[in-house]
Parts: sequence; structure tokens; C-alpha cells
Amino acid sequence: MQVILRQIEDVIFRRAEPSDLISVMEINLKTLPEHYSDYFYESLLAEIPEAFIVAEVKGKHVGYVMCKTEYGFSNFKKLGFVKKGHVVSIAVLEEFRKKGIGKVLVEESIVGVKLKKCDEFYLEVRCSNNEAVRLYEKLGFVIKQQLNAYYRDGEDAFLMAIELDK
Ligand code: ACO
Ligand code: ZN
Repeated sequence: MQVILRQIEDVIFRRAEPSDLISVMEINLKTLPEHYSDYFYESLLAEIPEAFIVAEVKGKHVGYVMCKTEYGFSNFKKLGFVKKGHVVSIAVLEEFRKKGIGKVLVEESIVGVKLKKCDEFYLEVRCSNNEAVRLYEKLGFVIKQQLNAYYRDGEDAFLMAIELDK
């Protein structure tokens, strides 16, 4: 059963299903240098379908966000051990950017990880990825750390996080 979360003009945001994963992998290949195995996509969808979301325009997949959950030390509280949502990957096809699709994908993934009772939500992003950093900041994420040589090509990442109220 398709779960439609939001529709904005001709863009539909809905939870991903197994049949969406090939298209999600295609968008990932076109837009990001970090790729994953088929099994990894399937396991994220099985673990937290609430925060694995696709954007579709007239039946064409144009964006996705996928997440996982983890337990670990808080990015906000000293000595706190918390449940964290983690944005593994988000992307929108180039021709469909700057229309607010990325923003809605992040907003809906926040709703999804809250349903899973996460206390915080975090992600890593290339320090040079101004568009993405700005998007996350607008949604309330703050830079908490700089991770040295986090990416294969040696670039640093910002770890950005947001506290979720319940
Ligand atoms: N008209 C004009 N501008 C608009 C409109 C509109 N109707 N709607 C939104 N915008 C602007 C926003 O204000 C924002 O501008 P700003 O950057 O100056 O603040 C800009 O468009 C982008 O916001 P969105 O449209 O919500 O985001 P978009 O759909 O373009 O997606 C994303 C952002 C996902 C980062 C995209 O650039 C992308 O796919 N990049 C390549 C992949 C990538 O880098 N992914 C993130 C890696 S980090 C990780 O995965 C954890
Ligand atoms: Zn990560």
C-alpha cells in the first residue's frame, strides 16, 4: 500500500517500497560519489521505512532520503546515551533542484525518525557542499564537529545534528 505523505504541485512525497530501490540507486549514482550495495538499500528500507522517502514527478523518481537509527553518545548532552536517527543519504536530480524538494525530504525524514522515538538526528556532509549545509541549517541542524578526511578522497565532513522534541 502506498503511503503518500505530501503533495506539492506535481511533486508527490511518499514512503519508498522495494520496487522503488532501483530508481533510488540510479539517482544516487548520478548525484553522489558515495554508493552502496543493493543489500544496504534493502536493509535501510526494512529497518526504517518511515524515513525512507521518495519524491516523484509524473511517475518519475526525482529524489530520495534514506536513514538509519543508532544508539550512542549524544551530540548535545554531556554523558548522554541516546537514540539517534542518521541521514545516510539524500539527493535530488539536478534538473529538479531549488524547488523545495530537498527541504520536504528532510522535513519528512524528521517526522519519520520521531515516529521511531529518536532523541536526535544527525548526518555528515562535505565541508564544500554549501547547498546541503545551508539546507540543513535552515531546518535547524547545527555543525557539531569537523571530521578530518572523512571521505575517500580526503575531504573533511561536518557532522551536523538536531535535537528532536517529542
Ligand atoms: N524557487 C527558487 N528557489 C527555491 C525554491 C523555489 N520555488 N524552493 C526552494 N528554493 C531554494 C531554497 O531556498 C534553497 O536555497 P538556498 O540554498 O539559497 O537556501 C535551495 O533552493 C535548495 O533548497 P531545496 O530546493 O529545498 O533543496 P533541493 O531540492 O535543491 O535539494 C540537495 C538539496 C539535496 C542538497 C541537492 O542539492 C542535491 O541533491 N545535491 C547533490 C547530492 C548531495 O549533495 N546530497 C547531500 C549529501 S550529504 C548527505 O547525504 C547526508
Ligand atoms: Zn553518515
